[in-house]
Amino acid sequence: MIQIAPSILSADFTRLADEVRAVEQAGADRIHIDVMDGRFVPNISMGPFIVEAINSLTELPLEAHLMIEEPDRYINVFMEAGADVIIVHQENTTHLHRVVQSIREQGKQAGVALNPATPAHVLDGIIDELDLVLVMSVNPGFSGQRFIESVLPKIREIRDTITDREITCDLEVDGGVNADTAPAAVTAGVNILVAATAVFKHPDGVAEGIRILRGHA
Ligand code: DX5
Ligand code: ZN
Repeated sequence: MIQIAPSILSADFTRLADEVRAVEQAGADRIHIDVMDGRFVPNISMGPFIVEAINSLTELPLEAHLMIEEPDRYINVFMEAGADVIIVHQENTTHLHRVVQSIREQGKQAGVALNPATPAHVLDGIIDELDLVLVMSVNPGFSGQRFIESVLPKIREIRDTITDREITCDLEVDGGVNADTAPAAVTAGVNILVAATAVFKHPDGVAEGIRILRGHA
């Protein structure tokens, strides 16, 4: 089963409660929350207060995608705010194993994200410990960018590793996912699609955005 994870980054923040309830009603499987610090990525977005607010609005699992420097300093506050899955980037997490262990020891799921230029093999020593791998299909920082097709072989490689090692690990793609790009990502092996623009900016509303993504998954 393919899961749909709407990214709240493109929601209308003047109507956040309505937007969250709308995606929940439309059958979203989880909510993706993009945390940006203006340093690791060239944009500033939201922090634990928003996670806490969203957590009070929905029963859906929340995943916090931390695009911030020194993510290890912030994993606890995001878990306390209600994040069920914490995703850190491989590129800037020096003690990745320790961070992953610490997330899981607290009963939460641990995910690792890879930027488009980061190869799959950096996960060799950690993938057995992970609940989720997120493959970025745009350079992180903004919604509404074009899907980078050259990440597809990397998705396939990570899927093969998951299959070969017989581990339970979700594989998620994030960035530029829409009805045109989702099929190739699913064929390459992802089981979770993150989408901001394709859901929250769909001209016919979020329910239609989710329905169309599912139809192409
Ligand atoms: C980008 C974020 C994505 C973003 C996706 O840095 O990690 O989650 O919101 O936006 P779309 O789906 O519009 O590419
Ligand atoms: Zn994201």
